[in-house]
This record gives sequence, C-alpha cells and structure tokens, in this order.
Amino acid sequence: MGAWVAAVLVSGALLCAVGGAFGAGAKISATPEVTAGSNVIISCNITEPPTAVKGHYWEKGGTRLDTNETSPEFTSYLIPKVDHDTSGEYHCIFETVPLSKATVYVKVKPHVYAYKKTEHGNEGDTGMLVCKSSSYPPVTQWSWFRVVGDVSQPVVNGSEDRFFIKSDGNKTELRILSLHLEKDPGDYMCNGTNEKGEGNAVISLRVRSRLAALWPFLGIVAEVLVLVTIIFIYEKRRQPNQVPDDDDGGSAPLKSNATNYKDKNVRQRNAN
Ligand SMILES: *[C@@H]1O[C@H](CO)[C@@H](O)[C@H](O)[C@H]1NC(C)=O
Ligand SMILES: *[C@@H]1O[C@H](CO)[C@@H](O)[C@H](O)[C@H]1NC(C)=O
Ligand SMILES: *[C@@H]1O[C@H](CO)[C@@H](O)[C@H](O)[C@H]1NC(C)=O
Ligand SMILES: *[C@@H]1O[C@H](CO)[C@@H](O)[C@H](O)[C@H]1NC(C)=O
Ligand SMILES: *[C@@H]1O[C@H](CO)[C@@H](O)[C@H](O)[C@H]1NC(C)=O
Repeated sequence: MGAWVAAVLVSGALLCAVGGAFGAGAKISATPEVTAGSNVIISCNITEPPTAVKGHYWEKGGTRLDTNETSPEFTSYLIPKVDHDTSGEYHCIFETVPLSKATVYVKVKPHVYAYKKTEHGNEGDTGMLVCKSSSYPPVTQWSWFRVVGDVSQPVVNGSEDRFFIKSDGNKTELRILSLHLEKDPGDYMCNGTNEKGEGNAVISLRVRSRLAALWPFLGIVAEVLVLVTIIFIYEKRRQPNQVPDDDDGGSAPLKSNATNYKDKNVRQRNAN
C-alpha cells in the first residue's frame, strides 16, 4: 500500500499541471484525476507564486478540509478511501495575492440509489418512482427499464401517454399516470451513466385495487356490526334474569318517582 501511495505521489509530481491551475502566473502541479484506491494522498505544489505564500488549505464543496502543514509551497491531503462519499472536486488554495488555486478531481462511476425501494400506488392514481445519485461527476444520462425476468425493457418517455421521465444531474423521476392494476406492478430499474461508468437501482412498484382502499372502511363496519351483535345478545340474555328481580318491590317505579321529583325541582328552579 505504501508503494501505491508513493506511486500516486510520484505520478502526481510527474504529470504536473494536469489539474487546472488558475492563479495569475502561478504554476501549480496537482495530482491528476483520481478514480480508485485507499489512503490516496493528493497534493499541490506551487512553483511561481505571484507573492509570498502566507498559507494554504483545501476545500471541497465549499467546506474547508483539515490538512497537515508542511512547507508553504506544498500541501497534501489524505483520502482514506475513494468512493461515492469522497468523490468530488478538491481545491487546493494558496494564500497569495491574488489567491492561487488548483483542482484535483476524484471521479467515480455513479452511485445510484432508489429514494424508496418499494413504491405503493392505488389503481388509477399516479405512481412516482425516484432514483438519485450521490457521486461525482454527475450523471449525464439517465434511463429507465422495466425488469421482466432477465430482460430489461426500456421505458420510453411519453409512451402510452402514461410514462414520463424527468431527469437532472442528481435525480431522475419516472411518473406513471393512471396506474394499471395488472400491467404496471413489478420491478423498474433506473440506470445512470457518467464518464466513469454506470450505476443502477431497482424499485418495486405495487398497485392496490380501488377496492383495497375500501378495506379499512369495511373493517370498521364489520367491527361495529360485531359489537352491536354482542351487545344485542348480551341484552337478550340479561332480560330474563331481570324479570324475577323486578318482583322484589318495584325498584323501577321508585326510580321513576325519583326522576319525576328531580324533574319538577329543575322545572321549578328554571321557573324562578
Ligand atoms: C514542486 O515542484 C517543483 C517543480 O515542478 C519540484 O522541483 C519540487 O520538487 C516539487 N516539490 C514537491 C514537494 O513535490
Ligand atoms: C497529520 O499527520 C499526522 C502524523 O503524521 C497523521 O497521523 C495525521 O493523519 C495527519 N492528518 C492529515 C489530515 O493528513
Ligand atoms: C419527457 O418528456 C417530457 C414532455 O413530454 C419532457 O418535458 C421531459 O423533459 C422529457 N424527459 C426526458 C428525460 O427527456
Ligand atoms: C446535486 O446535489 C447537490 C446537493 O446534494 C447540489 O449542490 C448540486 O447542485 C446538484 N447538482 C445538480 C446537477 O443538480
Ligand atoms: C445503462 O445504460 C447504458 C447507456 O446509457 C448502457 O450502456 C448500459 O448497458 C445500461 N445498463 C443496463 C443494466 O441496462
């Protein structure tokens, strides 16, 4: 591994000025494009700084990276592993007037993933399948396929007036209008391509029948019916027991008297 790192450093030094240098008059030799490896050291070396170099740093996607200070004219940065997370544009910046910069490009094939691996839709509704890519460089070409067994059939934008594809560098969306219960369910594959290769992801589409949307409602109806039946049966079984109870001195009339009395009281109070 040490030898590999050394090789990267040496080739970086040999293939000077491959990374674009755009300081006024400054010459920066930067590591050429990196596409794979572990513990890769990328570096920049400035030779004709316009003014004294006060310091230097690295930046990626607007974030400053921690680096070790060595000499003012040389700076390096360690990439533990080249993958979709570490891919991107690394800028080395020398603090001269004006600033002197160079870029090291770390490029990988697209890292494509499904926003949701399984998508559910109701019959007749619009289904939306989304794939994204989180790597550098951006995807230049997106395509969609229908996976049937071992065969991938291309999904053509606008076909059947139901299939529509919308893509940009990071993201692609396949919209399927008025989902069909039998024809549309299945696996769909999105395929992203950039200069380094391709990546893909598969999304399963499930389509529920319109009736299925009714199931929760029917469930509640069934539940209510069961409850009503239970209460009905319970009441029916209780009534014969209550008949002998009524014999012991007319509790019901007493109760009704009590309520009548209360009623009167209330009515009187209201009248006052
Ligand atoms: C920087 O580049 C110069 C000229 O290309 C070379 O002589 C020098 O050895 C390099 N320094 C480092 C630390 O790579
Ligand atoms: C800085 O150098 C130390 C010791 O040489 C090393 O352990 C550390 O990983 C280096 N850090 C970076 C960001 O290169
Ligand atoms: C698909 O077609 C629609 C119009 O029908 C268009 O707006 C869209 O950009 C097309 N998508 C692709 C990826 O070409
Ligand atoms: C890709 O996504 C990043 C943020 O995740 C954004 O900054 C960048 O502009 C996007 N690129 C494109 C081509 O849409
Ligand atoms: C993905 O698309 C590229 C061209 O854009 C093609 O070469 C490649 O075979 C496709 N991959 C799959 C799995 O269909």
